[in-house]
Amino acid sequence: MRAGILTGGGDCPGLNAVIRAAARRLHAAGWEVHGVREGWRGLVDGVLEPLGPREITGLLPRGGTILGTSRTNPYKLDGGVDAVLRTTSDHHLDALVAIGGEDTLGVAARLHADHGFPVVGVPKTIDNDLSGTDYTFGFDTAVAVATEAIDRLHTTAESHNRVMVVEVMGRHTGWIAVMSGIAGGADVILIPEHPISVEDACEEIRRRHAKGKDFSIVVVSEGYELGTDDEEREVDDFGHVRLSERGVGSELAREIEERTGYETRVTVLGHVQRGGSPTARDRVLATRYGLKAAELVLDGNWGRMAALQGDAIVDVSLHDATAELKTVPPEWYDVAKAFFG
Ligand code: F6P
Repeated sequence: MRAGILTGGGDCPGLNAVIRAAARRLHAAGWEVHGVREGWRGLVDGVLEPLGPREITGLLPRGGTILGTSRTNPYKLDGGVDAVLRTTSDHHLDALVAIGGEDTLGVAARLHADHGFPVVGVPKTIDNDLSGTDYTFGFDTAVAVATEAIDRLHTTAESHNRVMVVEVMGRHTGWIAVMSGIAGGADVILIPEHPISVEDACEEIRRRHAKGKDFSIVVVSEGYELGTDDEEREVDDFGHVRLSERGVGSELAREIEERTGYETRVTVLGHVQRGGSPTARDRVLATRYGLKAAELVLDGNWGRMAALQGDAIVDVSLHDATAELKTVPPEWYDVAKAFFG
């Protein structure tokens, strides 16, 4: 029996740990494992490579993905889906482990629904915006990176009496902003789900300065809508614009300085949040997900995704997990707001 493994969408720390765990478990059950190069593109173009015990050693601490990744959507390519089915049969794949976020797993769910494709999923994304699971792997590492950055910005903000705006990733949800903001002690946090106005943010900063604190840390999620961006932007295969190009952080910093008169600087954390070695927590979560994905394969439990609920690893339907984004609930934003101003 032979399983393929692919990693799709934006990379994140822990992908290699999932590959290692799933392959180890499948090898132990006597399966061959092949790596699919660069997400769905590898199945469209037929580019696979063997993943034997040698190829999967030393992967646990390694960031990125040894398989490469892409945002290729076979449903957007002429003959793309047929090519995926052809490659699967030509390479004698009996199963596929798809490791990805809503886009990659959305394709997996659709292939399963349309063609009974033998696929299982693993929830990956630094954004933590996948439904059906409490946490995706990669998120903890991104939050750790952002928190460290906020800590560092505190000391320079304090020295110069400045407002520091930190723009973090997260696409259309504010998970990274809220968690790193709470952990780093941000004075204001702006996220797409519970948007406070720029004027309200400025008021919090003024209130803080009135209390004798001459510096402030403002965390803004890249997906926060300032209402000033009306440019038409290119979209990828899944219809997403590159949010970082909107420059929300810079625009917000400009507005804050203009409205409050306080000197303001911006730091855009960007892809450092996705790079490097996974935290211990992400390594453990990725390992548990990899083992669960292998179990789903061995049981022929197609169309399911490994998920974390509470402290238990369970499986949920790929369709349900990708049906809607998991947004930051008000209770979480309330925790952040308790420390504003
Ligand atoms: O989904 C992960 C993510 O890092 C988002 O937070 C961000 O908006 C996007 O990917 C950036 O994509 P790219 O790597 O294509 O610039």
